[in-house]
Amino acid sequence: MKNEGGASKSQEPDDVKRWLANSDTHQTWMNAFYGDSKNQDFYEAAFDRILDIVRPPEGAIFLDAGCGVCAHSIRLANRGFLVHAVDFSEAALDMGRASVKALGLEEKIRISSGNITELPFADESYDYVLCWGVLMHIPDLVKALTELARVLRLGGTLVVSEGNMSSSDSILGRTLFRPLRRRKTVMKKTPAGIEYRTSTGSATRFVRFANVNWLIRRFETEGVYIQERFSGQFTGAYTMVSFGLLKDLIHHFNMSYFNHNGDPRVASGNILIFQKH
Ligand SMILES: C[S@@+](CC[C@H](N)C(=O)[O-])C[C@H]1O[C@@H](n2cnc3c(N)ncnc32)[C@H](O)[C@@H]1O
Repeated sequence: MKNEGGASKSQEPDDVKRWLANSDTHQTWMNAFYGDSKNQDFYEAAFDRILDIVRPPEGAIFLDAGCGVCAHSIRLANRGFLVHAVDFSEAALDMGRASVKALGLEEKIRISSGNITELPFADESYDYVLCWGVLMHIPDLVKALTELARVLRLGGTLVVSEGNMSSSDSILGRTLFRPLRRRKTVMKKTPAGIEYRTSTGSATRFVRFANVNWLIRRFETEGVYIQERFSGQFTGAYTMVSFGLLKDLIHHFNMSYFNHNGDPRVASGNILIFQKH
């Protein structure tokens, strides 16, 4: 079944929800992305650059749509902003609540449950919206884009981070897909990107490497225009490596790619800054 723009619609949205409802899913991400100080250095540098471009006034409110364990909500709060953190996974929100409480940031970060495909906010409620590493896990992408655009105020800024289907990570993954015979995973090319669905019992892991140009054009139809596109990390290979020295080398390469403004068209991570006109 296809929705507008050809992005395939989830046939088992409840299965994807079940995968995201599981605390193991979030613990795995937490270990892979936030358990290592070199990766934290990258996130700090990325948010320095984002905030340098966006320049929100101190005390500005960010909607962190798909906040997960609140890692970036905390980063924003530590930089003087207020955050409304929303996710539909209670497991993730519980982990986020615990971190926010441990850091004494309850006054700065308001955490609530909400689905990005039907956000519980009025039209034009936010000047700043962050959606980091989230759209790639939403089967009904068009609905999510429409909702993000709807809650963004005219003149407001939307910051998105997504995986890129033209990156070497994604191309290598596609090339090795058949030889590795990943029987439980189904790969599908759609105009919105390359989608992978992996069944694990009653749950389905869903990941999309985005067709970034499609994403940019689709947001335009909602009146949300690209302002800046730059590379995030060149590769996510460090998540698959346990050998410390090799991991450090990958982080070093990623950081230097980011610092030297490497071409986003071949980078695994893409950071997109949009404005609603
Ligand atoms: C990879 S995690 C990223 C979390 C956080 N943004 C970060 O960068 O640490 C993706 C998050 O998106 C959330 N998510 C996926 N689909 C969602 C939806 N339709 N509504 C709300 N949250 C959703 C998941 O529960 C998960 O916490």
